[in-house]
Amino acid sequence: MSRKKTKSTKHGGTLTDKAGKQLPLAMQYDYTNFYFGSGDDAFAMLEPFDEWYKDSKPAGYYLYGLPMQAAPSTRVDVRNTKTGEVHSDLLNFASYNYLGLSYRPEVKEAVTEAAQLYGNGASGSPVLSGSLEIHHELADRLAAFKGKEAVLLFPTGYSVNVGVVAGLMRSGDLIVADQYAHASLVDGMILSKATSRFFRHNKVDDLERKLKRYGGKKLVLIEGVYSMDGDVAIVPDIVEVCKRYDARILIDEAHSTFIYGENGRGVAEHFGYEDEIDIHVGTFSKSLGGQGGFVAGSQKLINYLRGFSRSRFFSCGLSPVVSAGILKALDLFEAEPELRSKLWENVDFMQNKLREAGVSVGDSECQVIPIMVQDDARIFEMGEALMYEGVYLNPVKYPAVPKHKSRFRMSISADHSREELEEGVRTITRVLQRYDICPTTRDTITSTTV
Ligand SMILES: Cc1ncc(COP(=O)(O)O)c(C=O)c1O
Repeated sequence: MSRKKTKSTKHGGTLTDKAGKQLPLAMQYDYTNFYFGSGDDAFAMLEPFDEWYKDSKPAGYYLYGLPMQAAPSTRVDVRNTKTGEVHSDLLNFASYNYLGLSYRPEVKEAVTEAAQLYGNGASGSPVLSGSLEIHHELADRLAAFKGKEAVLLFPTGYSVNVGVVAGLMRSGDLIVADQYAHASLVDGMILSKATSRFFRHNKVDDLERKLKRYGGKKLVLIEGVYSMDGDVAIVPDIVEVCKRYDARILIDEAHSTFIYGENGRGVAEHFGYEDEIDIHVGTFSKSLGGQGGFVAGSQKLINYLRGFSRSRFFSCGLSPVVSAGILKALDLFEAEPELRSKLWENVDFMQNKLREAGVSVGDSECQVIPIMVQDDARIFEMGEALMYEGVYLNPVKYPAVPKHKSRFRMSISADHSREELEEGVRTITRVLQRYDICPTTRDTITSTTV
């Protein structure tokens, strides 16, 4: 399909800037324009998408999936897939490695030992040959840590949510999720064929409106820490409404396990509501720096999910190598409470400095900090500028977040030094000021000099 023809389709192609100049294709479209296509060919959208993709990559989309050259520590070398050059020693605020555990020497050693014993993969579904002794050890450790009767392991955090939600709910049931629920929860809703509704983010009156309209089986889906905004579910209020309408609750603590609560069990522990929540989900890919996920709950729940979570049943078991790394990361987490204290010190420092500098970080209260830019058209340009000035941050724009809510998603680690955080604030503030995204008054500059 020629470019001319693409532009004349319903997919648009006529947007102009303020001066009336036609914007490049890359800025006129996004992924949503290529979801539905006319015609009977299942490949109908491939060519128009390819045309846009080739245009859009150099215009900034190339910033996604840039290859790092080594472990995701606080300093990384990143290959620029547009120019081919390697940007050395970038300050890394893009990785989930909140406690710096993914690359600890003890973890590497455990992983190496496990590889000698087990080899690489589990080589089977966990219900057949893919169940290894190390999986049982890990599940038991996690059940004890979470204070729950049992735990079921999954190969990814994504597959936990899909498997649990679709494993439990059926056509005719009701699932109500917070509007900011992760895609894996949403995909579980779709797969379950249950009636699916969303309530306004953290708004319990809206949740109540949705629950009171339906009878039958009900499940409510929330996250501990919301992954794009870094704010926390108001668990006590949500639990209270759910109890009144006999709705079960699932909390996804992907970003809050090992961070929140006196013992690090998550936001449910933080509020003292662990027993009021029926299903507890966690991932190994964030604070523990591994891969995979788990669901914790009553023995009966776990027995049922073992039989009905298809994303686990029909998928290869967690790699034993990764499992060994996670077990070692758990040891370190438990032996070194100072890791969490250091993380929270870093979070407080960074949140304060960014706010003082006039950088908008929304309602974030933890290690997930959105740097709100709200400028969908220029976010990639800013992302490039940041990289050239020494900071690696992921741009996030529609459809991952609502239109005009573009942001950089910053992750803080316990491993970041004070100097690195200071350098990060200086660079981010300088670049945002250049784009008029945060104030440049002399007073502000003086008070934010770090
Ligand atoms: C809230 C939430 N749940 C689940 C997942 C999926 O976890 P994983 O990346 O381990 O598959 C993510 C991933 O970022 C997430 O943010």
